Amino acid sequence: MSRRVSVWVFGAVLIVVAAGAAALSGLLVNIAERKQEAKDPYLKLVNVAEDTTDPQPWGMNWPREYEQYQRTVDPSRTSFGGGDVPVPHEKADTFPWLTRMFAGYAFSLDYRDRRGHAYMLVDQEKTRRVTERPQPGSCLHCHASIIPTYRRLGSGESDWDKVRSGFVALGAMTYQQAHAEVVKTGSLNPVPKGTTQALERVDGAHPVSCVDCHDPKTMHLRVTRPGFILGIQALAASTEPTPQLPSIERWRQGNRAKPYDPNVDGTRQEMRSYVCGQCHVEYYCGPKTTLFFPWNNGLKVEAIEAYYDGYKFPDGHRFYDWQHADTGAEVLKAQHPEFETWSQGPHARSGVACADCHMPYVRDGAMKVSDHWVRSPLPTVSRACQVCHPFDEAELKARVATIQNRHLALLQRAGSAMVAMLDVMKQARADGATPEQLRGALDLQRKAQWRLDFVAAENSMGFHAPQEAARILGEAIDEARQAQILAAQWRSARRIP
Ligand code: HEC
Ligand code: HEC
Ligand code: HEC
Ligand code: HEC
Ligand code: HEC
Repeated sequence: MSRRVSVWVFGAVLIVVAAGAAALSGLLVNIAERKQEAKDPYLKLVNVAEDTTDPQPWGMNWPREYEQYQRTVDPSRTSFGGGDVPVPHEKADTFPWLTRMFAGYAFSLDYRDRRGHAYMLVDQEKTRRVTERPQPGSCLHCHASIIPTYRRLGSGESDWDKVRSGFVALGAMTYQQAHAEVVKTGSLNPVPKGTTQALERVDGAHPVSCVDCHDPKTMHLRVTRPGFILGIQALAASTEPTPQLPSIERWRQGNRAKPYDPNVDGTRQEMRSYVCGQCHVEYYCGPKTTLFFPWNNGLKVEAIEAYYDGYKFPDGHRFYDWQHADTGAEVLKAQHPEFETWSQGPHARSGVACADCHMPYVRDGAMKVSDHWVRSPLPTVSRACQVCHPFDEAELKARVATIQNRHLALLQRAGSAMVAMLDVMKQARADGATPEQLRGALDLQRKAQWRLDFVAAENSMGFHAPQEAARILGEAIDEARQAQILAAQWRSARRIP
């Protein structure tokens, strides 16, 4: 090797080494920064506490999550999901049979597509179900950041005693009285005001907020809603197998000295569904008793039905939501059973939580942030589904579309069966059939309607548990047709054409 060449080689080696050293020290600085971020991701600028229902101060500490949370004002329409701005569509535009099914009930007045969390309180304040019909204070359990109001109006030794008794007290008020109490709590806790986002309400009442799902001291996930805590306790105390919620099965094997407590016994992965199960569930919320989640026999459609059928109101009457205007049947109204339906599906069984699909991680610099723009996962399939499924976006969307379109077709058929049943039963009643003569048909109406509504009110268009949804619709169609036959037989026995 000549001297000249060896100088060049030496120079080249020096450059490579220097570049390597620079890269290495850059990397070390980067790692140190990341370690710092990981150790102290929550540099708190503002103190937040149990009564900080306004999300804005929290947003000063956790700007990424707050920014995404604010995006829930934006529409996220998909083929079946999301709702429009300024006003979502009436469900009866797509499912005209709903108006017939709800004859005589407030839901026949006004029943719209859901939309982003930012709207939950205004949409409740404005629905004709509230403005034109008396409603209980319990409605606010799931539409406002309400726990400090429960605590303020409640009494007792422990925090839970206060929250729980306040929950009962607010439930006994009218919607308007309870609403005024939530506003009053807001005014007792003045908080920094600033932006004019739809979420920042001037009256101090807020839709679901950080404090509803997070412990302000530790930021750990937690559930706060008494309806959920009591409901899941009742489920744990039952004998219904819960393979999708392993911590319940574990608690059952223990000494049961204390009731199942989701905040203590629940796993982190379960908490990622429990926080949603505080509201996205079937419930009773009427004038006759305090709001409750009917999970004492389990989460399946027939388990809930059995619980309602055995339940007596304080006045001694069998449980029902309203009397159907066409037939006089005492029937049940189902509400958005997302948690219950998810529980019967393949994802829950595989340990996949609501937040995995509806709050998928977003990368922001060194941080992995849970997307707080809670919405349909279809606009974010790459983050929500591809982490587990090795298929391209188009394929995954096609799989969802196949499930949803099959489901829609069966749902519409069940709706037709419902209307055909109501037509004949209504005629029989007009022809003089007494409730005793129509007893069999009336009982079948209650069953068919409960099943159809349970599926129709669920918001995933079959996706959360495709086969379970089809099973329930199959039963609904069968029961509606049986009721139709019984009413038709009554008429033909009297030779009514
Ligand atoms: C495996 C993924 C997955 C899991 C887990 C999951 N969902 Fe969904 N969810 C979906 C899909 C897909 C849709 C249909 C979205 C659409 O039609 O745009 C949906 C729809 C919804 C909707 C209606 C969305 C809209 O835009 O109108 C709600 C509400 C919902 N899910 C709540 C829940 C809750 C609560 C849980 C847990 C108890 C849950 N989901 C678990 C995937 C999931
Ligand atoms: C305090 C009650 C409450 C909690 C907790 C809650 N939701 Fe909701 N959610 C609602 C209400 C009410 C609406 C409908 C608001 C409206 O239509 O005005 C809604 C709407 C939605 C929508 C439709 C969004 C859109 O853009 O159309 C999805 C999806 C959803 N929720 C999923 C979830 C998931 C997932 C969780 C848990 C991480 C959760 N929710 C927690 C009450 C709640
Ligand atoms: C256990 C929780 C819970 C309670 C109690 C509750 N809601 Fe809701 N509400 C929800 C959830 C979750 C949604 C979004 C899913 C949907 O629209 O199906 C919703 C959606 C709504 C909507 C928007 C869609 C629609 O139905 O037009 C209105 C309005 C509404 N609720 C009014 C009420 C009223 C009135 C009451 C009291 C009778 C009430 N809610 C009680 C959880 C609850
Ligand atoms: C409906 C429930 C819900 C609400 C309301 C909510 N969060 Fe979260 N948040 C979650 C879930 C679920 C996670 C994921 C936690 C986990 O996996 O352990 C999370 C995670 C976080 C984390 C941990 C880092 C991350 O992004 O994963 C922070 C910080 C956070 N949220 C801040 C906020 C702030 C600030 C607000 C109010 C603006 C808020 N959250 C409102 C459910 C909620
Ligand atoms: C955390 C992992 C995980 C995520 C996230 C996830 N899945 Fe899955 N998915 C699974 C597992 C596990 C199964 C069950 C597979 C089995 O047991 O064979 C499954 C099953 C399915 C199935 C077949 C079962 C059925 O319901 O018919 C479809 C379709 C599906 N997933 C679509 C989706 C879509 C779409 C998303 C995003 C919205 C999604 N998955 C998100 C893990 C996941």
